[in-house]
Amino acid sequence: MSVTSAPAIRVHGLTKSFKDVDVLRGVDIDVARGSIFALLGSNGAGKTTVVRILSTLLRADGGTAVVNGFDVAAQPADVRESISLTGQFAAVDEILTGRENLVMVARLRHLKDSGTIADRLLARFSLTDAGGRRVATYSGGMRRRLDIAMSLIGNPPVVFLDEPTTGLDPEARIEVWHAVRELAAGGTTVLLTTQYLEEAEQLADRIAILHQGRIIVEGTLAELKKLLPAATVEYVEKQPTLEDVFLALVGKDPR
Ligand SMILES: Nc1ncnc2c1ncn2[C@@H]1O[C@H](COP(=O)(O)OP(=O)(O)OP(=O)(O)O)[C@@H](O)[C@H]1O
Ligand SMILES: [Mg+2]
Repeated sequence: MSVTSAPAIRVHGLTKSFKDVDVLRGVDIDVARGSIFALLGSNGAGKTTVVRILSTLLRADGGTAVVNGFDVAAQPADVRESISLTGQFAAVDEILTGRENLVMVARLRHLKDSGTIADRLLARFSLTDAGGRRVATYSGGMRRRLDIAMSLIGNPPVVFLDEPTTGLDPEARIEVWHAVRELAAGGTTVLLTTQYLEEAEQLADRIAILHQGRIIVEGTLAELKKLLPAATVEYVEKQPTLEDVFLALVGKDPR
């Protein structure tokens, strides 16, 4: 199997317990290179636990996980060089400007032309005008976009986004979705976790639902819609309608 055709992320039989709580009970995931994969699940389902294992922050009890061709347990340094992680809460420095945050990360990664890198990322995430302002003055959506921009410095082939839009209003959420789509269009593999079916519907090539320690369904949106019980399908249809109404009222195109 060549490196390019191998999945960017391959997880098999992953298990993890905290004391007597079996959080992951045999998780299997394959994510194709350059695709967006959404891991859905309710609070406490284990989404962050999966992301922490894949980003080498936490050791699994059993199973295997390979990221960008590297085993997370045996080759953690190679995995870390292949990824970036944007956590559930934005990790930006409030006192610095957006541009200064980006320059700082580029310098920490020993990259040349940190100013040019910062300016390119500001432009890519529609933050050029705000780049000279302190992050303390940014909206939640702007912070999130800056956070994602910071995680892209050094061009990691695999990006983990843990609940990238939780707590954002619909307009800010759309801004983040746009940024995530741009990423995948550039060939980056994205694994994101979310509690929003709408988010998975908008972004993901494939969707997996983590429930009671296992992936209970996995597939494209069309495949999942056929599988989901009636009550859940009703939820899928209701939520976009509410957002559509909101967006129509505030005059934004949902696409
Ligand atoms: N370090 C830890 N020690 C003990 N229990 C933990 C630890 N980390 C996570 N857990 C437990 O594991 C379960 C899964 O947590 P996790 O954070 O992975 O869920 P999640 O799907 O990301 O939830 P959320 O949607 O709320 O972010 C929860 O019951 C949580 O309390
Ligand atoms: Mg979480």
